[in-house]
Amino acid sequence: MPSGGGCMTTFVRTDGRPVRVVPGFRDRVLGSRPSVTPRPDWTAEDYARAADKKLARARRLVAAVARRHDRLDGAAVLDVGCGDGINCLVLAAVAVRRAVGVDLRLPLFESGEMAAPARRLAGLVRERLERARRRAHATAGPPPSVRFVRADATRLAFPDACFDVLVSRSAMEHIAPVERALAEMARVVRPGGVIHLRVDPYFWLRGCHKRGLVDIPWAHARMTLEDFRRFVTESEGAAMAATRCARLQTLNRLTLGQWRSLIGAGPFEVLEWTEEPSAFAVALLEECPDVGDSLAEGVERRDLIHGRLEIWLRVTKA
Ligand SMILES: C[S@@+](CC[C@H](N)C(=O)[O-])C[C@H]1O[C@@H](n2cnc3c(N)ncnc32)[C@H](O)[C@@H]1O
Repeated sequence: MPSGGGCMTTFVRTDGRPVRVVPGFRDRVLGSRPSVTPRPDWTAEDYARAADKKLARARRLVAAVARRHDRLDGAAVLDVGCGDGINCLVLAAVAVRRAVGVDLRLPLFESGEMAAPARRLAGLVRERLERARRRAHATAGPPPSVRFVRADATRLAFPDACFDVLVSRSAMEHIAPVERALAEMARVVRPGGVIHLRVDPYFWLRGCHKRGLVDIPWAHARMTLEDFRRFVTESEGAAMAATRCARLQTLNRLTLGQWRSLIGAGPFEVLEWTEEPSAFAVALLEECPDVGDSLAEGVERRDLIHGRLEIWLRVTKA
């Protein structure tokens, strides 16, 4: 039951425990960083800025891969959950023999209005890559080879050991079952090949993604899905509760420890495992000392503040 008169100040979980409602919390978190996902009100300048940012980010990825795989210029690279495909375009143009992107959805090849912003952004990145290619007088070389395949990461139609490098950025938290995806990754990358995963772990401040954010700090780490649904129904109505819960249910709700065990069980040597804390999440958690005392079973304080897992693996056997 909510309490506090017209404006809910406390929500009582099914187990009887009250949790504090902090009006404006959701907006504050959402406003804390600009998005590179195009919005309907974006101007040409916004697109140009986002294209520059995406290009710089993809170039950093290429450089990071190159540091861990010495002969990148001859490598075959697979991007799992490639989304708008920009990382593949940059990998192919800048460094590799063959880049392949797989995703359940490929906005680059969708004709509808929904995919138009992603196509526009990718077009801008392509223009920038082409300009750089001309500046480097590289037009005589072979054109970059990039291919996109609409496929489920848990069932890849590639032969065993056909890639040298695999990258998957901000996708593993979405792919289920994640064990199956990891097994497929281990199968399609040759022994000795390198896998890079960047994971947005579920229980940190924004790990529930935009739809999961409400005015109860870290609600997704403190409430069952049923309590979450009840809170949103009471505060925003049943339709929004269904939307928010549906989103949460698409995400892999794993702690940092669970990610470590899952990946550790695969045929991989862990080359690097970085858990990156978010200064913003740390500061917010200090403002909300009640959060740490009311966590769901198995969730630890560190799960609330680490916004990013950066993992580098070497495949040890087929
Ligand atoms: C947040 S996006 C990340 C896109 C891209 N890697 C990036 O860094 O911008 C997550 C992507 O994972 C894809 N995805 C989710 N489940 C998948 C699955 N089972 N197989 C392949 N792709 C999947 C989604 O369609 C989505 O494009």
